[in-house]
Amino acid sequence: TDPARDQAPLRIAVTGAAGQIGYSLLFRLASGSLLGPDRPVELRLLEIEPALKALEGVVMELDDCAFPLLAGVETGSDPRKIFDGVNLALLVGARPRGPGMERGDLLSANGAIFTEQGKALNDVAADDVRIGVTGNPANTNALIALSNAPDIPKERFSALTRLDHNRAISQLAAKTGAPVTDITHMTIWGNHSATQYPDLFHAEVGGRNAVEAVGDQAWIENTFIPTVAKRGAAIIEARGSSSAASAANATVDAARDWLLGSAEDDWVSMAVVSDGSYGVPEGLVSSFPVTTKHGEWTIVGGLEIDDFSRARIDASVAELVEERDAVVELGLI
Ligand code: NAD
Ligand code: LMR
Repeated sequence: TDPARDQAPLRIAVTGAAGQIGYSLLFRLASGSLLGPDRPVELRLLEIEPALKALEGVVMELDDCAFPLLAGVETGSDPRKIFDGVNLALLVGARPRGPGMERGDLLSANGAIFTEQGKALNDVAADDVRIGVTGNPANTNALIALSNAPDIPKERFSALTRLDHNRAISQLAAKTGAPVTDITHMTIWGNHSATQYPDLFHAEVGGRNAVEAVGDQAWIENTFIPTVAKRGAAIIEARGSSSAASAANATVDAARDWLLGSAEDDWVSMAVVSDGSYGVPEGLVSSFPVTTKHGEWTIVGGLEIDDFSRARIDASVAELVEERDAVVELGLI
């Protein structure tokens, strides 16, 4: 079914629903940010046992919003019950990093969550399910989940690099004085980590090449790239906990564009399973520029990659290879 046309409630699972991101995400989903003001949604909220009481409080608040589109809420700690018949699964639940940690440090703590959830989705999700992974390390968690769900097409999984994409748009808009709506063709390549490569060579500012519009290669190398790549750590440093509202917003943006389609004359960044494009080894979950339509994504082909970009994409992909090898070692895939 075309998700844009179907009017039955979209059944959406959110894991880690009592967490920080959940506290923002659930209210966005229930208010119609995902599929607009006409499409009801049903929420299926997964938490670990000790967090179920807090989750009941969040559900009380959802009730108290009297959202016209909210067709039902179910909570629980058994993924096989919660994922039953879901059309969209937003896998947020995982431990966040603290100050001084890299996201990869979370692999052993969070990896096991995604084996169990991958298996459960494989067995009980709806045939049209799409799965977005926000919990870190997001790319490799998505790889773990898809590897444990052999009956779900690999293309139905993606990991969130939309927050990085939005951060890059915001930084470029601030630098050039252009409104964010003038920034198009932004790309995040690689891993959702400090090695990610936000690429301005194909981006445009009001239709003009972004590198030319900026006119300052040193700013791109020494300010723009590190600011975007290390923004998550800067937020942890400032807030004392990791980004939540902006992460929820990006989770909604990514799912909305996936289900309803990206803008005709633009593309978005999504971490999806590689088909070998741009020298990224087949099977890795890596961020690419993609267009989306009718719930399917397509990697944008034919972009020219110069030596500067090549080295950065390769470095981030090398980290993804290391993470994959580590989870093979841990027996998670
Ligand atoms: P949080 O600690 O506030 O919430 C996480 C929730 O997940 C907790 O309530 C916890 O009980 C729950 N949980 C743990 N194991 C679970 C399981 N097996 N099943 C269901 N729920 C489980 O964390 P948060 O700030 O909401 O962040 C969640 C994750 O998202 C973290 O890994 C964080 O690093 C990541 N994140 C990713 C991005 C991104 O852009 N990809 C951005 C921000 C945060
Ligand atoms: C982010 O990018 O804000 C999240 O991935 C949280 C983190 O650990 O940086």
